[in-house]
Amino acid sequence: MPGTDKNSGPSVPGILLRREAGLSLSEQIREGITQAIDEGRLKPGSRVPSCRDLAAQLGVARGTVRAAYDMLVDSQRLVAKGAAGTWVTDIQRPPGESRQQDRVIAPLAAIIHAFDSPPLTFQMGVPANDAFPAKVWSRILTRHAREMVSKPTGYSDPRGSLALRQQLVSYLSMARGIRCQASQVMITNGYAGALGLICLALGLRGKAIWTEDPGYLLARKALTLAGVETIPVAVDEQGLCVEEGIRQAPDAAAVLVTPGQQAPLGMTLSLERRAALLAWARRHGSWIIEDDYLGELQLEGRAAPALAALDDGCVLHIGTFSKTLSPSLRLGYLVVPAHQAAHFGEAAALLAPASSFVLHNAVAEFLLEGHFMRHLRRMKRLYNERLIALLAALQPLFPQASRAALAVIIALPEGCQDTRIAHEALAYGMAPTPLSVWYQDQGRRGLVLSVTTLPKEGFTGSALRLKALIEQFG
Ligand SMILES: Cc1ncc(COP(=O)(O)O)c(C=O)c1O
Repeated sequence: MPGTDKNSGPSVPGILLRREAGLSLSEQIREGITQAIDEGRLKPGSRVPSCRDLAAQLGVARGTVRAAYDMLVDSQRLVAKGAAGTWVTDIQRPPGESRQQDRVIAPLAAIIHAFDSPPLTFQMGVPANDAFPAKVWSRILTRHAREMVSKPTGYSDPRGSLALRQQLVSYLSMARGIRCQASQVMITNGYAGALGLICLALGLRGKAIWTEDPGYLLARKALTLAGVETIPVAVDEQGLCVEEGIRQAPDAAAVLVTPGQQAPLGMTLSLERRAALLAWARRHGSWIIEDDYLGELQLEGRAAPALAALDDGCVLHIGTFSKTLSPSLRLGYLVVPAHQAAHFGEAAALLAPASSFVLHNAVAEFLLEGHFMRHLRRMKRLYNERLIALLAALQPLFPQASRAALAVIIALPEGCQDTRIAHEALAYGMAPTPLSVWYQDQGRRGLVLSVTTLPKEGFTGSALRLKALIEQFG
Protein backbone atom coordinates (compact mmCIF):
# COMPACT_ATOMS: atom_id res chain seq x y z
CA MET A 1 0.00 0.00 0.00
CA PRO A 2 1.54 3.34 -0.98
CA GLY A 3 2.60 5.42 1.99
CA THR A 4 2.66 2.26 4.09
CA ASP A 5 5.68 0.33 5.15
CA LYS A 6 4.80 -3.12 6.48
CA ASN A 7 7.55 -3.05 9.11
CA SER A 8 7.58 0.49 10.38
CA GLY A 9 3.90 1.29 9.80
CA PRO A 10 2.59 3.89 7.42
CA SER A 11 4.31 7.22 7.00
CA VAL A 12 3.26 10.56 5.61
CA PRO A 13 5.70 11.72 2.99
CA GLY A 14 6.99 15.27 2.93
CA ILE A 15 5.56 17.16 5.94
CA LEU A 16 7.85 20.02 6.87
CA LEU A 17 7.05 21.94 10.04
CA ARG A 18 8.29 25.46 10.65
CA ARG A 19 7.97 26.62 14.23
CA GLU A 20 8.16 30.30 13.29
CA ALA A 21 5.44 30.04 10.62
CA GLY A 22 2.18 31.95 11.10
CA LEU A 23 0.14 28.72 11.15
CA SER A 24 -0.19 26.51 14.20
CA LEU A 25 1.58 23.15 14.08
CA SER A 26 -1.78 21.35 13.78
CA GLU A 27 -2.69 23.53 10.81
CA GLN A 28 0.65 22.83 9.17
CA ILE A 29 0.16 19.08 9.63
CA ARG A 30 -3.37 19.36 8.22
CA GLU A 31 -2.02 21.24 5.17
CA GLY A 32 0.85 18.81 4.69
CA ILE A 33 -1.50 15.81 4.66
CA THR A 34 -4.01 17.55 2.39
CA GLN A 35 -1.24 18.34 -0.05
CA ALA A 36 0.10 14.78 0.06
CA ILE A 37 -3.41 13.48 -0.77
CA ASP A 38 -3.92 16.02 -3.56
CA GLU A 39 -0.56 15.24 -5.15
CA GLY A 40 -1.17 11.50 -5.00
CA ARG A 41 1.64 10.81 -2.52
CA LEU A 42 -0.97 9.50 -0.11
CA LYS A 43 -3.38 7.26 -2.00
CA PRO A 44 -7.14 6.97 -1.38
CA GLY A 45 -7.75 4.03 0.94
CA SER A 46 -4.28 4.05 2.48
CA ARG A 47 -3.72 4.16 6.23
CA VAL A 48 -2.03 7.16 7.82
CA PRO A 49 0.25 6.73 10.85
CA SER A 50 -1.22 6.62 14.34
CA CYS A 51 -1.20 9.94 16.20
CA ARG A 52 1.54 8.61 18.43
CA ASP A 53 3.77 7.51 15.52
CA LEU A 54 3.36 10.69 13.51
CA ALA A 55 3.91 12.81 16.63
CA ALA A 56 7.18 10.98 17.27
CA GLN A 57 8.19 11.28 13.61
CA LEU A 58 7.56 15.04 13.58
CA GLY A 59 8.73 15.78 17.11
CA VAL A 60 5.40 17.28 18.28
CA ALA A 61 2.88 16.42 20.98
CA ARG A 62 0.35 13.68 20.29
CA GLY A 63 -2.53 16.12 20.84
CA THR A 64 -1.17 18.36 18.04
CA VAL A 65 -1.47 15.52 15.53
CA ARG A 66 -4.87 14.52 16.93
CA ALA A 67 -6.16 18.07 16.36
CA ALA A 68 -4.92 17.95 12.73
CA TYR A 69 -6.56 14.54 12.16
CA ASP A 70 -9.84 15.79 13.68
CA MET A 71 -9.87 18.68 11.20
CA LEU A 72 -9.17 16.30 8.31
CA VAL A 73 -11.91 13.92 9.44
CA ASP A 74 -14.32 16.86 9.66
CA SER A 75 -13.46 17.85 6.10
CA GLN A 76 -13.82 14.18 5.03
CA ARG A 77 -10.25 13.86 3.80
CA LEU A 78 -9.61 11.19 6.46
CA VAL A 79 -11.84 8.55 8.02
CA ALA A 80 -11.35 7.45 11.64
CA LYS A 81 -11.97 3.69 12.00
CA GLY A 82 -11.39 3.33 15.75
CA ALA A 83 -8.92 0.58 16.59
CA ALA A 84 -8.34 -0.07 12.85
CA GLY A 85 -6.66 3.35 12.56
CA THR A 86 -7.17 6.44 10.47
CA TRP A 87 -7.41 6.18 6.69
CA VAL A 88 -7.42 8.43 3.65
CA THR A 89 -11.00 8.67 2.38
CA ASP A 90 -11.48 6.10 -0.35
CA ILE A 91 -13.65 8.12 -2.71
CA GLN A 92 -13.03 9.63 -6.10
CA ARG A 93 -12.65 13.38 -6.20
CA PRO A 94 -15.46 15.19 -7.96
CA PRO A 95 -14.79 15.72 -11.67
CA GLY A 96 -13.23 19.07 -12.49
CA GLU A 97 -11.48 19.35 -9.13
CA SER A 98 -7.85 19.82 -9.95
CA ARG A 99 -5.21 17.41 -8.79
CA GLN A 100 -1.56 17.96 -9.41
CA GLN A 101 -0.54 15.08 -11.66
CA ASP A 102 2.84 13.44 -11.86
CA ARG A 103 3.58 14.35 -15.45
CA VAL A 104 7.06 12.87 -15.65
CA ILE A 105 6.98 10.13 -18.25
CA ALA A 106 8.62 6.80 -17.52
CA PRO A 107 12.30 6.44 -18.43
CA LEU A 108 13.09 5.06 -21.90
CA ALA A 109 9.42 5.39 -22.87
CA ALA A 110 10.34 5.60 -26.56
CA ILE A 111 12.02 2.18 -26.38
CA ILE A 112 10.32 0.22 -23.62
CA HIS A 113 6.54 0.08 -24.00
CA ALA A 114 5.75 -0.30 -20.30
CA PHE A 115 7.58 -1.15 -17.11
CA ASP A 116 5.81 -3.22 -14.45
CA SER A 117 3.47 -4.94 -16.88
CA PRO A 118 3.16 -8.60 -17.84
CA PRO A 119 5.15 -9.59 -20.94
CA LEU A 120 3.45 -9.38 -24.32
CA THR A 121 3.73 -11.92 -27.13
CA PHE A 122 7.13 -11.69 -28.92
CA GLN A 123 8.57 -9.37 -26.26
CA MET A 124 12.33 -9.84 -26.02
CA GLY A 125 14.33 -10.15 -22.87
CA VAL A 126 11.68 -11.74 -20.63
CA PRO A 127 11.73 -15.42 -19.74
CA ALA A 128 8.68 -17.70 -19.89
CA ASN A 129 6.62 -16.90 -16.81
CA ASP A 130 4.73 -20.17 -17.05
CA ALA A 131 7.97 -22.15 -16.75
CA PHE A 132 9.16 -20.46 -13.59
CA PRO A 133 9.33 -22.78 -10.55
CA ALA A 134 7.35 -20.33 -8.44
CA LYS A 135 6.62 -22.72 -5.55
CA VAL A 136 10.22 -23.69 -4.88
CA TRP A 137 11.40 -20.14 -5.37
CA SER A 138 8.85 -18.64 -2.98
CA ARG A 139 9.69 -21.25 -0.32
CA ILE A 140 13.37 -20.40 -0.54
CA LEU A 141 12.81 -16.66 -0.75
CA THR A 142 10.48 -16.63 2.26
CA ARG A 143 13.00 -18.55 4.33
CA HIS A 144 15.77 -16.11 3.50
CA ALA A 145 13.57 -13.09 4.14
CA ARG A 146 12.76 -14.50 7.59
CA GLU A 147 16.37 -15.28 8.26
CA MET A 148 17.45 -11.77 7.37
CA VAL A 149 14.90 -10.24 9.70
CA SER A 150 15.85 -12.51 12.58
CA LYS A 151 19.60 -12.04 12.14
CA PRO A 152 20.17 -8.31 11.76
CA THR A 153 23.69 -7.44 10.68
CA GLY A 154 25.62 -4.28 9.93
CA TYR A 155 26.62 -3.15 6.47
CA SER A 156 26.89 -6.07 4.13
CA ASP A 157 29.71 -6.75 1.67
CA PRO A 158 29.28 -4.25 -1.19
CA ARG A 159 30.34 -6.94 -3.68
CA GLY A 160 27.27 -9.02 -2.80
CA SER A 161 26.71 -12.05 -0.61
CA LEU A 162 29.62 -14.45 -0.34
CA ALA A 163 27.21 -17.38 -0.58
CA LEU A 164 26.06 -16.30 -4.03
CA ARG A 165 29.51 -15.33 -5.22
CA GLN A 166 30.81 -18.75 -4.20
CA GLN A 167 27.93 -20.50 -5.95
CA LEU A 168 28.67 -18.46 -9.05
CA VAL A 169 32.32 -19.53 -8.96
CA SER A 170 31.22 -23.20 -9.20
CA TYR A 171 28.42 -22.54 -11.64
CA LEU A 172 30.55 -20.45 -14.00
CA SER A 173 33.32 -23.02 -13.98
CA MET A 174 30.87 -25.79 -14.90
CA ALA A 175 28.58 -23.97 -17.29
CA ARG A 176 30.81 -21.31 -18.84
CA GLY A 177 34.35 -22.66 -18.35
CA ILE A 178 35.45 -19.66 -16.27
CA ARG A 179 38.04 -20.18 -13.53
CA CYS A 180 37.82 -17.48 -10.90
CA GLN A 181 37.74 -16.77 -7.15
CA ALA A 182 34.82 -15.29 -5.23
CA SER A 183 36.83 -12.06 -4.82
CA GLN A 184 36.62 -11.55 -8.59
CA VAL A 185 32.82 -11.73 -8.60
CA MET A 186 30.61 -8.70 -7.91
CA ILE A 187 26.82 -8.98 -7.68
CA THR A 188 25.24 -6.10 -9.55
CA ASN A 189 21.86 -4.62 -10.30
CA GLY A 190 21.54 -6.51 -13.56
CA TYR A 191 23.60 -6.02 -16.68
CA ALA A 192 23.19 -2.24 -16.61
CA GLY A 193 24.57 -2.15 -13.05
CA ALA A 194 27.63 -4.09 -14.16
CA LEU A 195 28.22 -1.91 -17.20
CA GLY A 196 27.94 1.23 -15.10
CA LEU A 197 30.43 -0.15 -12.58
CA ILE A 198 32.90 -0.96 -15.37
CA CYS A 199 32.63 2.54 -16.85
CA LEU A 200 33.30 4.08 -13.45
CA ALA A 201 36.00 1.72 -12.27
CA LEU A 202 37.96 1.79 -15.53
CA GLY A 203 37.45 5.52 -16.07
CA LEU A 204 36.06 5.04 -19.58
CA ARG A 205 34.60 8.56 -19.88
CA GLY A 206 36.02 10.28 -22.95
CA LYS A 207 37.39 7.04 -24.38
CA ALA A 208 36.32 5.03 -27.43
CA ILE A 209 34.68 1.59 -27.32
CA TRP A 210 33.79 -0.72 -30.20
CA THR A 211 30.16 -1.80 -30.09
CA GLU A 212 28.52 -4.41 -32.28
CA ASP A 213 26.41 -3.12 -35.17
CA PRO A 214 23.70 -4.33 -34.85
CA GLY A 215 23.93 -4.41 -31.09
CA TYR A 216 22.03 -3.78 -27.86
CA LEU A 217 20.52 -0.31 -28.06
CA LEU A 218 20.33 0.22 -24.29
CA ALA A 219 24.03 -0.54 -23.88
CA ARG A 220 24.90 1.96 -26.59
CA LYS A 221 22.73 4.59 -24.92
CA ALA A 222 24.24 3.76 -21.53
CA LEU A 223 27.77 4.19 -22.83
CA THR A 224 26.90 7.48 -24.51
CA LEU A 225 25.38 8.73 -21.25
CA ALA A 226 28.57 7.71 -19.47
CA GLY A 227 30.55 9.91 -21.87
CA VAL A 228 32.00 7.02 -23.86
CA GLU A 229 32.39 7.27 -27.64
CA THR A 230 30.84 4.22 -29.31
CA ILE A 231 32.44 2.96 -32.55
CA PRO A 232 29.99 0.74 -34.45
CA VAL A 233 31.69 -2.38 -35.80
CA ALA A 234 29.86 -4.64 -38.28
CA VAL A 235 28.81 -8.19 -37.51
CA ASP A 236 28.83 -11.02 -40.09
CA GLU A 237 28.09 -14.74 -39.91
CA GLN A 238 31.13 -15.26 -37.64
CA GLY A 239 30.13 -12.46 -35.27
CA LEU A 240 32.01 -9.21 -34.65
CA CYS A 241 34.31 -8.24 -37.56
CA VAL A 242 37.47 -7.75 -35.53
CA GLU A 243 39.54 -6.61 -38.51
CA GLU A 244 37.05 -3.84 -39.17
CA GLY A 245 37.28 -2.69 -35.57
CA ILE A 246 41.06 -2.61 -35.81
CA ARG A 247 40.84 -0.62 -39.05
CA GLN A 248 38.46 1.92 -37.53
CA ALA A 249 39.81 2.39 -34.03
CA PRO A 250 42.92 0.34 -33.28
CA ASP A 251 43.50 2.12 -29.98
CA ALA A 252 39.98 1.82 -28.58
CA ALA A 253 39.95 1.38 -24.81
CA ALA A 254 37.52 -1.54 -24.96
CA VAL A 255 35.07 -3.60 -26.95
CA LEU A 256 31.57 -4.58 -25.87
CA VAL A 257 30.63 -7.91 -27.39
CA THR A 258 28.02 -10.69 -27.11
CA PRO A 259 30.17 -13.71 -28.10
CA GLY A 260 27.85 -16.47 -26.83
CA GLN A 261 24.83 -15.53 -28.92
CA GLN A 262 25.10 -12.21 -30.71
CA ALA A 263 22.35 -9.73 -29.82
CA PRO A 264 20.12 -9.76 -31.84
CA LEU A 265 21.33 -11.97 -34.73
CA GLY A 266 22.19 -14.98 -32.58
CA MET A 267 25.45 -16.28 -34.10
CA THR A 268 28.32 -17.41 -31.85
CA LEU A 269 31.62 -15.55 -32.20
CA SER A 270 33.88 -17.93 -34.15
CA LEU A 271 37.07 -19.34 -32.63
CA GLU A 272 39.14 -17.44 -35.13
CA ARG A 273 37.51 -14.14 -34.21
CA ARG A 274 37.87 -14.90 -30.51
CA ALA A 275 41.59 -15.39 -30.98
CA ALA A 276 41.86 -12.20 -33.04
CA LEU A 277 39.91 -10.18 -30.46
CA LEU A 278 42.01 -11.43 -27.56
CA ALA A 279 45.24 -10.80 -29.48
CA TRP A 280 44.16 -7.23 -30.27
CA ALA A 281 43.12 -6.54 -26.66
CA ARG A 282 46.40 -7.88 -25.26
CA ARG A 283 48.47 -5.97 -27.80
CA HIS A 284 46.78 -2.64 -27.06
CA GLY A 285 46.07 -3.09 -23.37
CA SER A 286 42.34 -2.82 -24.18
CA TRP A 287 39.44 -4.38 -22.30
CA ILE A 288 36.93 -6.90 -23.59
CA ILE A 289 33.51 -6.47 -21.98
CA GLU A 290 31.74 -9.78 -22.51
CA ASP A 291 27.94 -9.57 -22.35
CA ASP A 292 26.98 -13.20 -21.73
CA TYR A 293 23.25 -12.45 -21.40
CA LEU A 294 22.18 -15.66 -23.20
CA GLY A 295 25.33 -17.70 -22.65
CA GLU A 296 23.57 -20.56 -20.91
CA LEU A 297 20.46 -20.55 -23.06
CA GLN A 298 21.90 -21.83 -26.30
CA LEU A 299 19.22 -24.00 -27.90
CA GLU A 300 21.26 -25.62 -30.66
CA GLY A 301 24.37 -27.69 -29.91
CA ARG A 302 26.74 -27.13 -27.04
CA ALA A 303 27.26 -23.58 -25.82
CA ALA A 304 30.74 -22.26 -26.57
CA PRO A 305 32.71 -21.42 -23.42
CA ALA A 306 32.77 -17.80 -22.35
CA LEU A 307 35.53 -15.54 -23.65
CA ALA A 308 36.55 -15.08 -20.03
CA ALA A 309 37.37 -18.81 -19.99
CA LEU A 310 40.21 -18.14 -22.44
CA ASP A 311 41.78 -15.24 -20.59
CA ASP A 312 42.26 -13.93 -17.08
CA GLY A 313 43.81 -10.62 -18.01
CA CYS A 314 41.57 -8.42 -20.08
CA VAL A 315 38.06 -9.88 -20.12
CA LEU A 316 35.28 -8.47 -17.92
CA HIS A 317 32.45 -10.97 -17.95
CA ILE A 318 28.84 -9.86 -17.32
CA GLY A 319 26.05 -12.33 -16.63
CA THR A 320 22.42 -11.71 -15.71
CA PHE A 321 19.60 -13.61 -14.04
CA SER A 322 17.10 -11.56 -16.05
CA LYS A 323 16.86 -14.16 -18.81
CA THR A 324 17.22 -17.26 -16.65
CA LEU A 325 15.08 -16.34 -13.61
CA SER A 326 13.31 -13.01 -13.91
CA PRO A 327 14.13 -9.44 -14.92
CA SER A 328 12.18 -8.28 -11.87
CA LEU A 329 15.05 -9.52 -9.67
CA ARG A 330 17.38 -7.01 -11.33
CA LEU A 331 20.23 -9.30 -10.47
CA GLY A 332 23.39 -9.72 -12.45
CA TYR A 333 27.07 -10.31 -11.85
CA LEU A 334 30.43 -9.19 -13.06
CA VAL A 335 33.60 -11.29 -13.08
CA VAL A 336 36.77 -9.23 -13.31
CA PRO A 337 40.37 -10.35 -13.88
CA ALA A 338 42.18 -11.29 -10.65
CA HIS A 339 44.45 -8.24 -10.85
CA GLN A 340 41.36 -5.97 -10.88
CA ALA A 341 39.46 -7.65 -8.02
CA ALA A 342 40.57 -5.27 -5.27
CA HIS A 343 40.02 -2.15 -7.38
CA PHE A 344 36.53 -3.22 -8.46
CA GLY A 345 35.67 -4.15 -4.88
CA GLU A 346 36.49 -0.58 -3.82
CA ALA A 347 34.63 0.91 -6.76
CA ALA A 348 31.55 -1.18 -5.90
CA ALA A 349 31.78 -0.14 -2.24
CA LEU A 350 32.03 3.53 -3.10
CA LEU A 351 29.81 3.96 -6.12
CA ALA A 352 27.64 0.92 -6.82
CA PRO A 353 27.17 -1.36 -3.79
CA ALA A 354 25.19 -4.56 -4.29
CA SER A 355 21.51 -4.75 -3.31
CA SER A 356 19.97 -6.58 -0.33
CA PHE A 357 21.33 -10.03 0.46
CA VAL A 358 17.86 -11.59 0.75
CA LEU A 359 17.72 -12.13 -2.98
CA HIS A 360 21.38 -13.07 -3.25
CA ASN A 361 21.12 -15.76 -0.62
CA ALA A 362 17.89 -17.12 -2.04
CA VAL A 363 19.45 -17.38 -5.52
CA ALA A 364 22.54 -18.99 -3.96
CA GLU A 365 20.38 -21.70 -2.42
CA PHE A 366 18.46 -22.10 -5.67
CA LEU A 367 21.77 -22.80 -7.37
CA LEU A 368 23.13 -24.99 -4.57
CA GLU A 369 20.08 -27.26 -4.51
CA GLY A 370 20.24 -27.81 -8.27
CA HIS A 371 16.97 -25.98 -9.04
CA PHE A 372 18.71 -23.52 -11.34
CA MET A 373 20.27 -26.11 -13.66
CA ARG A 374 17.00 -28.06 -13.73
CA HIS A 375 15.13 -24.88 -14.57
CA LEU A 376 17.58 -24.07 -17.39
CA ARG A 377 17.15 -27.54 -18.86
CA ARG A 378 13.36 -27.19 -18.82
CA MET A 379 13.47 -23.72 -20.32
CA LYS A 380 15.68 -24.86 -23.17
CA ARG A 381 13.28 -27.69 -23.99
CA LEU A 382 10.29 -25.38 -23.82
CA TYR A 383 11.90 -22.66 -25.94
CA ASN A 384 12.89 -25.22 -28.56
CA GLU A 385 9.28 -26.39 -28.77
CA ARG A 386 8.07 -22.80 -29.02
CA LEU A 387 10.64 -21.93 -31.64
CA ILE A 388 9.52 -24.84 -33.80
CA ALA A 389 5.87 -23.85 -33.34
CA LEU A 390 6.52 -20.21 -34.19
CA LEU A 391 8.56 -21.07 -37.29
CA ALA A 392 5.78 -23.41 -38.43
CA ALA A 393 3.21 -20.64 -37.95
CA LEU A 394 5.33 -18.02 -39.73
CA GLN A 395 6.80 -19.94 -42.64
CA PRO A 396 3.67 -20.03 -44.87
CA LEU A 397 3.36 -16.26 -44.49
CA PHE A 398 7.03 -15.28 -44.22
CA PRO A 399 9.34 -17.78 -45.96
CA GLN A 400 12.29 -15.54 -45.05
CA ALA A 401 11.75 -16.10 -41.26
CA SER A 402 14.98 -17.33 -39.64
CA ARG A 403 16.07 -18.36 -36.12
CA ALA A 404 18.19 -16.05 -34.03
CA ALA A 405 18.97 -17.30 -30.51
CA LEU A 406 15.64 -17.28 -28.61
CA ALA A 407 13.90 -15.39 -31.39
CA VAL A 408 12.86 -15.50 -35.00
CA ILE A 409 13.71 -12.63 -37.34
CA ILE A 410 11.43 -11.65 -40.18
CA ALA A 411 13.56 -9.61 -42.56
CA LEU A 412 11.60 -6.83 -44.27
CA PRO A 413 12.44 -4.78 -47.35
CA GLU A 414 14.60 -1.67 -47.16
CA GLY A 415 12.58 1.40 -46.21
CA CYS A 416 9.87 -0.65 -44.48
CA GLN A 417 8.66 1.11 -41.33
CA ASP A 418 9.45 -1.62 -38.85
CA THR A 419 9.22 0.78 -35.88
CA ARG A 420 5.68 1.78 -36.92
CA ILE A 421 4.61 -1.86 -37.27
CA ALA A 422 6.07 -2.67 -33.86
CA HIS A 423 4.20 0.25 -32.33
CA GLU A 424 0.87 -0.70 -33.92
CA ALA A 425 1.30 -4.32 -32.79
CA LEU A 426 1.12 -3.25 -29.13
CA ALA A 427 -2.61 -2.71 -29.47
CA TYR A 428 -2.94 -6.44 -30.21
CA GLY A 429 -0.88 -7.60 -27.25
CA MET A 430 2.25 -8.17 -29.30
CA ALA A 431 5.63 -6.52 -28.78
CA PRO A 432 7.93 -7.41 -31.69
CA THR A 433 11.22 -5.48 -31.69
CA PRO A 434 12.08 -3.55 -34.84
CA LEU A 435 15.39 -4.77 -36.26
CA SER A 436 16.43 -1.27 -37.39
CA VAL A 437 16.76 0.05 -33.81
CA TRP A 438 19.62 -2.37 -33.16
CA TYR A 439 21.73 -0.56 -35.77
CA GLN A 440 23.58 2.61 -34.96
CA ASP A 441 22.46 4.25 -38.23
CA GLN A 442 19.19 2.59 -39.22
CA GLY A 443 20.39 -0.58 -40.94
CA ARG A 444 18.34 -3.60 -42.01
CA ARG A 445 14.59 -3.59 -41.47
CA GLY A 446 12.69 -6.43 -39.90
CA LEU A 447 10.95 -7.71 -36.79
CA VAL A 448 12.59 -9.70 -34.01
CA LEU A 449 10.08 -12.06 -32.39
CA SER A 450 11.05 -13.66 -29.12
CA VAL A 451 9.60 -17.13 -28.53
CA THR A 452 9.69 -17.08 -24.76
CA THR A 453 6.10 -15.95 -24.19
CA LEU A 454 3.47 -18.15 -25.79
CA PRO A 455 0.15 -16.40 -26.56
CA LYS A 456 -2.92 -18.17 -25.14
CA GLU A 457 -4.30 -18.81 -28.61
CA GLY A 458 -0.97 -20.11 -29.97
CA PHE A 459 1.30 -18.45 -32.54
CA THR A 460 -0.87 -18.85 -35.65
CA GLY A 461 -3.26 -16.00 -34.85
CA SER A 462 -0.34 -13.70 -33.95
CA ALA A 463 1.42 -14.55 -37.23
CA LEU A 464 -1.67 -13.65 -39.25
CA ARG A 465 -2.12 -10.41 -37.33
CA LEU A 466 1.51 -9.47 -37.96
CA LYS A 467 1.10 -10.12 -41.66
CA ALA A 468 -1.89 -7.77 -41.74
CA LEU A 469 0.00 -5.08 -39.81
CA ILE A 470 2.98 -5.31 -42.16
CA GLU A 471 0.72 -4.96 -45.18
CA GLN A 472 -1.07 -1.99 -43.61
CA PHE A 473 1.82 -0.06 -42.09
CA GLY A 474 5.00 -1.39 -43.69
C1 LIG B 1 21.99 -7.78 -25.25
C2 LIG B 1 21.51 -7.76 -23.84
N1 LIG B 1 22.38 -7.75 -22.85
C3 LIG B 1 22.00 -7.77 -21.57
C4 LIG B 1 20.68 -7.81 -21.21
C5 LIG B 1 20.31 -7.95 -19.75
O1 LIG B 1 20.04 -6.82 -19.11
P1 LIG B 1 19.57 -6.76 -17.57
O2 LIG B 1 20.42 -7.68 -16.77
O3 LIG B 1 19.79 -5.33 -17.24
O4 LIG B 1 18.15 -7.18 -17.55
C6 LIG B 1 19.72 -7.79 -22.22
C7 LIG B 1 18.29 -7.76 -21.87
O5 LIG B 1 17.42 -7.70 -22.68
C8 LIG B 1 20.13 -7.79 -23.57
O6 LIG B 1 19.24 -7.81 -24.57
